[in-house]
Amino acid sequence: MSDSVTAFAPASIGNVAVGFDMLGLAMANVGDRVFARRTDTPGVTLAEVRGIDGELHPYLSANVEENTASIAAQALWEVYGTEGGVELKVYKGVPLQSGMGSSAASAVAGVVAVNALLKKPLATELLLPYALEGEKYASGGVHADNVAPSLLGGMIFCPRVLLPETIRLAVPDGVSSVLVHPDLQINTAHARKSLARGVAMQQWLSQQGYMGAFITACAASDLSMISKSLKDVVIEPQRKAAVSCFDAVKEAAEKSGALGFSLSGSGPSLFALCETSKAGNLATAMEQACRGQGIQCESWVSPMDAPGAHLVD
Ligand code: HSE
Repeated sequence: MSDSVTAFAPASIGNVAVGFDMLGLAMANVGDRVFARRTDTPGVTLAEVRGIDGELHPYLSANVEENTASIAAQALWEVYGTEGGVELKVYKGVPLQSGMGSSAASAVAGVVAVNALLKKPLATELLLPYALEGEKYASGGVHADNVAPSLLGGMIFCPRVLLPETIRLAVPDGVSSVLVHPDLQINTAHARKSLARGVAMQQWLSQQGYMGAFITACAASDLSMISKSLKDVVIEPQRKAAVSCFDAVKEAAEKSGALGFSLSGSGPSLFALCETSKAGNLATAMEQACRGQGIQCESWVSPMDAPGAHLVD
Protein backbone atom coordinates (compact mmCIF):
# COMPACT_ATOMS: atom_id res chain seq x y z
CA MET A 1 0.00 0.00 0.00
CA SER A 2 1.52 3.35 -1.02
CA ASP A 3 1.54 6.38 1.26
CA SER A 4 0.54 8.85 -1.42
CA VAL A 5 -1.36 8.85 -4.72
CA THR A 6 -2.70 11.31 -7.29
CA ALA A 7 -6.10 10.79 -8.92
CA PHE A 8 -7.39 12.43 -12.10
CA ALA A 9 -11.14 12.88 -12.69
CA PRO A 10 -12.45 14.21 -15.99
CA ALA A 11 -14.85 17.05 -16.73
CA SER A 12 -18.25 15.97 -18.05
CA ILE A 13 -21.27 17.06 -20.08
CA GLY A 14 -24.36 16.97 -17.85
CA ASN A 15 -27.86 16.28 -19.21
CA VAL A 16 -26.59 15.55 -22.76
CA ALA A 17 -29.63 17.56 -23.92
CA VAL A 18 -32.15 14.73 -23.63
CA GLY A 19 -31.77 13.60 -20.01
CA PHE A 20 -31.96 16.41 -17.47
CA ASP A 21 -30.18 15.29 -14.29
CA MET A 22 -29.95 11.67 -15.49
CA LEU A 23 -27.57 11.44 -18.43
CA GLY A 24 -23.90 12.41 -18.50
CA LEU A 25 -20.89 12.06 -20.76
CA ALA A 26 -17.24 12.06 -19.71
CA MET A 27 -14.76 14.32 -21.49
CA ALA A 28 -11.15 13.51 -22.36
CA ASN A 29 -8.04 15.52 -21.51
CA VAL A 30 -9.59 18.01 -19.12
CA GLY A 31 -10.17 17.38 -15.44
CA ASP A 32 -9.06 17.89 -11.85
CA ARG A 33 -6.29 16.16 -9.94
CA VAL A 34 -6.20 15.41 -6.23
CA PHE A 35 -3.00 14.38 -4.45
CA ALA A 36 -3.59 12.46 -1.20
CA ARG A 37 -1.06 11.32 1.39
CA ARG A 38 -1.37 9.49 4.66
CA THR A 39 -0.77 11.56 7.79
CA ASP A 40 -0.77 11.03 11.54
CA THR A 41 -3.39 13.76 11.91
CA PRO A 42 -6.79 12.07 12.22
CA GLY A 43 -9.41 12.62 9.51
CA VAL A 44 -9.22 14.48 6.22
CA THR A 45 -7.27 17.72 5.93
CA LEU A 46 -6.94 20.02 2.92
CA ALA A 47 -3.50 21.56 2.46
CA GLU A 48 -4.07 23.71 -0.62
CA VAL A 49 -6.05 24.26 -3.80
CA ARG A 50 -4.14 25.32 -6.92
CA GLY A 51 -5.09 26.16 -10.50
CA ILE A 52 -3.52 24.61 -13.59
CA ASP A 53 -0.99 27.45 -13.60
CA GLY A 54 0.32 26.06 -10.31
CA GLU A 55 -0.66 29.18 -8.37
CA LEU A 56 -2.86 29.04 -5.29
CA HIS A 57 -6.44 29.16 -6.54
CA PRO A 58 -7.77 32.73 -6.28
CA TYR A 59 -11.41 31.79 -5.62
CA LEU A 60 -11.70 28.28 -4.20
CA SER A 61 -11.63 27.76 -0.46
CA ALA A 62 -9.00 25.55 1.12
CA ASN A 63 -11.34 25.03 4.08
CA VAL A 64 -11.93 21.30 4.36
CA GLU A 65 -15.66 21.90 4.92
CA GLU A 66 -16.02 24.04 1.80
CA ASN A 67 -14.28 22.12 -0.98
CA THR A 68 -16.08 19.34 -2.84
CA ALA A 69 -12.93 17.17 -2.97
CA SER A 70 -12.48 17.17 0.79
CA ILE A 71 -16.21 16.96 1.55
CA ALA A 72 -16.49 13.84 -0.60
CA ALA A 73 -13.24 12.41 0.77
CA GLN A 74 -14.47 12.97 4.33
CA ALA A 75 -17.71 11.11 3.57
CA LEU A 76 -15.68 8.10 2.45
CA TRP A 77 -13.08 8.32 5.24
CA GLU A 78 -15.74 8.56 7.95
CA VAL A 79 -16.99 5.12 6.93
CA TYR A 80 -13.81 3.30 5.89
CA GLY A 81 -10.87 5.28 7.31
CA THR A 82 -8.65 3.71 9.91
CA GLU A 83 -6.04 5.20 12.24
CA GLY A 84 -4.40 8.46 11.19
CA GLY A 85 -5.76 10.48 8.32
CA VAL A 86 -5.18 11.83 4.83
CA GLU A 87 -4.07 15.23 3.58
CA LEU A 88 -5.29 16.45 0.20
CA LYS A 89 -3.98 18.89 -2.38
CA VAL A 90 -6.38 19.85 -5.15
CA TYR A 91 -5.27 20.94 -8.63
CA LYS A 92 -8.16 22.45 -10.59
CA GLY A 93 -8.10 21.85 -14.33
CA VAL A 94 -11.81 22.41 -14.94
CA PRO A 95 -12.96 26.03 -15.15
CA LEU A 96 -15.33 27.09 -12.36
CA GLN A 97 -19.04 27.56 -13.00
CA SER A 98 -18.50 26.39 -16.55
CA GLY A 99 -21.18 23.69 -16.94
CA MET A 100 -18.35 21.16 -17.30
CA GLY A 101 -18.89 19.39 -13.99
CA SER A 102 -16.14 21.23 -12.14
CA SER A 103 -17.33 20.49 -8.61
CA ALA A 104 -18.04 16.86 -9.55
CA ALA A 105 -14.53 16.38 -10.97
CA SER A 106 -12.97 17.53 -7.69
CA ALA A 107 -15.31 15.35 -5.64
CA VAL A 108 -14.59 12.30 -7.77
CA ALA A 109 -10.83 12.84 -7.77
CA GLY A 110 -11.00 13.26 -3.98
CA VAL A 111 -12.74 9.96 -3.35
CA VAL A 112 -10.69 8.02 -5.90
CA ALA A 113 -7.45 9.25 -4.33
CA VAL A 114 -8.54 8.52 -0.75
CA ASN A 115 -9.99 5.15 -1.75
CA ALA A 116 -6.57 4.11 -3.03
CA LEU A 117 -5.13 4.76 0.44
CA LEU A 118 -7.69 2.60 2.26
CA LYS A 119 -6.60 -0.78 3.60
CA LYS A 120 -9.26 -2.41 1.40
CA PRO A 121 -10.17 -0.05 -1.46
CA LEU A 122 -13.78 -0.19 -2.69
CA ALA A 123 -14.72 -1.05 -6.28
CA THR A 124 -14.94 2.18 -8.26
CA GLU A 125 -18.72 2.12 -8.76
CA LEU A 126 -19.24 1.93 -4.98
CA LEU A 127 -17.62 5.37 -4.61
CA LEU A 128 -20.55 7.15 -6.25
CA PRO A 129 -22.55 7.98 -3.07
CA TYR A 130 -19.46 9.54 -1.44
CA ALA A 131 -18.61 11.66 -4.48
CA LEU A 132 -22.25 12.77 -4.58
CA GLU A 133 -21.84 14.29 -1.09
CA GLY A 134 -19.42 16.81 -2.62
CA GLU A 135 -21.73 17.55 -5.54
CA LYS A 136 -24.65 18.05 -3.14
CA TYR A 137 -22.68 20.73 -1.29
CA ALA A 138 -21.88 22.58 -4.53
CA SER A 139 -25.14 22.46 -6.45
CA GLY A 140 -27.69 22.03 -3.70
CA GLY A 141 -29.23 18.93 -5.27
CA VAL A 142 -28.70 15.22 -5.76
CA HIS A 143 -28.00 14.68 -9.44
CA ALA A 144 -25.33 12.29 -10.63
CA ASP A 145 -25.08 13.32 -14.30
CA ASN A 146 -21.63 14.84 -13.75
CA VAL A 147 -20.32 12.67 -10.90
CA ALA A 148 -21.22 9.33 -12.53
CA PRO A 149 -19.52 9.88 -15.92
CA SER A 150 -16.53 11.52 -14.24
CA LEU A 151 -16.14 8.47 -12.00
CA LEU A 152 -16.96 5.76 -14.54
CA GLY A 153 -16.15 7.27 -17.94
CA GLY A 154 -18.22 7.06 -21.13
CA MET A 155 -21.94 7.82 -21.17
CA ILE A 156 -23.85 6.96 -18.00
CA PHE A 157 -27.60 6.88 -17.33
CA CYS A 158 -28.14 7.76 -13.69
CA PRO A 159 -31.74 8.77 -12.82
CA ARG A 160 -32.15 9.69 -9.18
CA VAL A 161 -34.80 7.03 -8.64
CA LEU A 162 -32.25 4.28 -9.36
CA LEU A 163 -29.23 5.67 -7.47
CA PRO A 164 -26.78 4.44 -6.37
CA GLU A 165 -27.21 2.10 -9.33
CA THR A 166 -26.31 3.52 -12.73
CA ILE A 167 -26.35 2.13 -16.25
CA ARG A 168 -23.47 2.39 -18.73
CA LEU A 169 -24.87 3.16 -22.16
CA ALA A 170 -23.42 2.05 -25.46
CA VAL A 171 -21.92 4.91 -27.45
CA PRO A 172 -22.11 5.13 -31.25
CA ASP A 173 -19.13 4.31 -33.41
CA GLY A 174 -17.26 7.25 -34.91
CA VAL A 175 -19.03 10.01 -32.95
CA SER A 176 -17.25 12.62 -30.81
CA SER A 177 -18.32 15.41 -28.53
CA VAL A 178 -17.19 18.99 -29.05
CA LEU A 179 -17.46 21.38 -26.13
CA VAL A 180 -16.95 25.14 -26.25
CA HIS A 181 -16.55 27.00 -23.00
CA PRO A 182 -17.44 30.69 -23.43
CA ASP A 183 -15.67 32.89 -20.91
CA LEU A 184 -18.81 33.41 -18.78
CA GLN A 185 -19.87 31.94 -15.44
CA ILE A 186 -23.18 30.40 -14.40
CA ASN A 187 -23.79 29.24 -10.85
CA THR A 188 -25.51 25.86 -11.09
CA ALA A 189 -27.28 26.15 -7.74
CA HIS A 190 -28.83 29.49 -8.80
CA ALA A 191 -29.65 28.19 -12.28
CA ARG A 192 -31.49 25.23 -10.76
CA LYS A 193 -33.56 27.44 -8.46
CA SER A 194 -34.76 29.45 -11.48
CA LEU A 195 -36.25 26.47 -13.31
CA ALA A 196 -40.02 26.12 -13.62
CA ARG A 197 -41.45 23.69 -11.06
CA GLY A 198 -43.73 21.91 -13.50
CA VAL A 199 -43.65 20.46 -17.02
CA ALA A 200 -46.55 20.47 -19.48
CA MET A 201 -47.75 17.03 -20.59
CA GLN A 202 -46.80 17.76 -24.21
CA GLN A 203 -43.24 18.69 -23.23
CA TRP A 204 -42.93 15.60 -21.06
CA LEU A 205 -44.12 13.33 -23.85
CA SER A 206 -41.73 14.93 -26.36
CA GLN A 207 -38.74 14.71 -24.04
CA GLN A 208 -39.46 11.08 -23.12
CA GLY A 209 -39.56 10.27 -26.82
CA TYR A 210 -36.30 12.09 -27.54
CA MET A 211 -34.46 10.44 -24.66
CA GLY A 212 -35.61 6.92 -25.51
CA ALA A 213 -34.83 7.40 -29.19
CA PHE A 214 -31.41 8.91 -28.49
CA ILE A 215 -30.30 6.10 -26.16
CA THR A 216 -31.51 3.47 -28.60
CA ALA A 217 -29.94 5.25 -31.58
CA CYS A 218 -26.58 5.50 -29.79
CA ALA A 219 -26.57 1.72 -29.21
CA ALA A 220 -27.36 1.13 -32.90
CA SER A 221 -24.90 3.80 -34.15
CA ASP A 222 -27.90 5.27 -36.03
CA LEU A 223 -26.64 8.78 -36.77
CA SER A 224 -29.82 9.83 -38.52
CA MET A 225 -31.91 9.03 -35.41
CA ILE A 226 -29.32 10.64 -33.11
CA SER A 227 -29.74 13.78 -35.17
CA LYS A 228 -33.55 13.68 -34.87
CA SER A 229 -33.55 12.98 -31.15
CA LEU A 230 -30.70 14.96 -29.55
CA LYS A 231 -32.99 17.76 -28.35
CA ASP A 232 -34.08 19.40 -25.11
CA VAL A 233 -37.53 20.99 -25.23
CA VAL A 234 -37.86 21.39 -21.44
CA ILE A 235 -34.74 22.87 -19.86
CA GLU A 236 -32.80 24.50 -22.73
CA PRO A 237 -35.58 27.00 -23.56
CA GLN A 238 -35.48 28.18 -19.93
CA ARG A 239 -31.70 28.54 -19.75
CA LYS A 240 -30.32 29.53 -23.13
CA ALA A 241 -30.96 33.27 -22.70
CA ALA A 242 -28.26 33.30 -20.00
CA VAL A 243 -25.68 32.42 -22.68
CA SER A 244 -25.73 35.32 -25.13
CA CYS A 245 -23.75 33.47 -27.82
CA PHE A 246 -26.05 30.40 -27.75
CA ASP A 247 -27.89 31.02 -31.04
CA ALA A 248 -24.76 32.05 -32.98
CA VAL A 249 -22.77 29.02 -31.81
CA LYS A 250 -25.71 26.70 -32.49
CA GLU A 251 -26.04 28.01 -36.05
CA ALA A 252 -22.31 27.52 -36.66
CA ALA A 253 -22.44 24.00 -35.23
CA GLU A 254 -25.41 23.02 -37.39
CA LYS A 255 -23.77 24.43 -40.55
CA SER A 256 -20.62 22.41 -39.77
CA GLY A 257 -22.41 19.08 -39.46
CA ALA A 258 -23.42 18.77 -35.78
CA LEU A 259 -25.80 15.89 -35.11
CA GLY A 260 -27.22 17.88 -32.22
CA PHE A 261 -26.37 20.81 -29.96
CA SER A 262 -27.30 22.10 -26.52
CA LEU A 263 -26.07 23.51 -23.23
CA SER A 264 -23.60 21.40 -21.26
CA GLY A 265 -25.15 21.09 -17.80
CA SER A 266 -26.49 24.47 -16.76
CA GLY A 267 -24.09 26.25 -19.16
CA PRO A 268 -22.42 28.47 -20.20
CA SER A 269 -20.55 25.66 -21.98
CA LEU A 270 -22.15 24.47 -25.20
CA PHE A 271 -21.69 21.06 -26.75
CA ALA A 272 -22.37 19.26 -29.98
CA LEU A 273 -22.08 15.64 -31.07
CA CYS A 274 -20.73 14.99 -34.54
CA GLU A 275 -18.96 12.45 -36.70
CA THR A 276 -15.39 12.29 -35.45
CA SER A 277 -14.02 13.28 -38.87
CA LYS A 278 -15.86 16.63 -38.57
CA ALA A 279 -14.98 17.39 -34.95
CA GLY A 280 -11.91 19.59 -35.57
CA ASN A 281 -13.73 21.84 -38.05
CA LEU A 282 -16.79 21.95 -35.83
CA ALA A 283 -14.74 23.08 -32.84
CA THR A 284 -13.15 25.85 -34.93
CA ALA A 285 -16.53 27.00 -36.27
CA MET A 286 -18.11 27.04 -32.80
CA GLU A 287 -15.16 28.98 -31.34
CA GLN A 288 -15.26 31.51 -34.17
CA ALA A 289 -18.99 32.06 -33.68
CA CYS A 290 -18.48 32.58 -29.95
CA ARG A 291 -15.67 35.09 -30.48
CA GLY A 292 -17.83 36.76 -33.14
CA GLN A 293 -20.20 37.60 -30.29
CA GLY A 294 -17.34 39.23 -28.40
CA ILE A 295 -16.83 36.34 -25.96
CA GLN A 296 -13.49 34.57 -25.55
CA CYS A 297 -13.63 30.79 -25.34
CA GLU A 298 -11.77 27.51 -25.45
CA SER A 299 -12.83 24.13 -26.79
CA TRP A 300 -12.22 20.41 -26.35
CA VAL A 301 -12.96 17.41 -28.56
CA SER A 302 -13.55 14.03 -26.86
CA PRO A 303 -14.41 10.50 -27.91
CA MET A 304 -17.74 9.46 -26.38
CA ASP A 305 -16.02 6.62 -24.52
CA ALA A 306 -13.57 8.89 -22.67
CA PRO A 307 -12.02 7.20 -19.61
CA GLY A 308 -13.30 7.86 -16.12
CA ALA A 309 -11.28 8.74 -13.02
CA HIS A 310 -7.99 6.94 -12.49
CA LEU A 311 -4.74 7.15 -10.62
CA VAL A 312 -1.87 8.95 -12.34
CA ASP A 313 1.86 9.21 -11.68
N1 HSE B 1 -28.08 18.35 -14.38
C1 HSE B 1 -27.48 19.50 -13.79
C2 HSE B 1 -28.22 20.74 -14.22
C3 HSE B 1 -26.04 19.56 -14.22
O1 HSE B 1 -28.48 20.86 -15.42
O2 HSE B 1 -28.55 21.58 -13.38
C4 HSE B 1 -25.31 20.75 -13.69
O3 HSE B 1 -24.06 20.83 -14.33
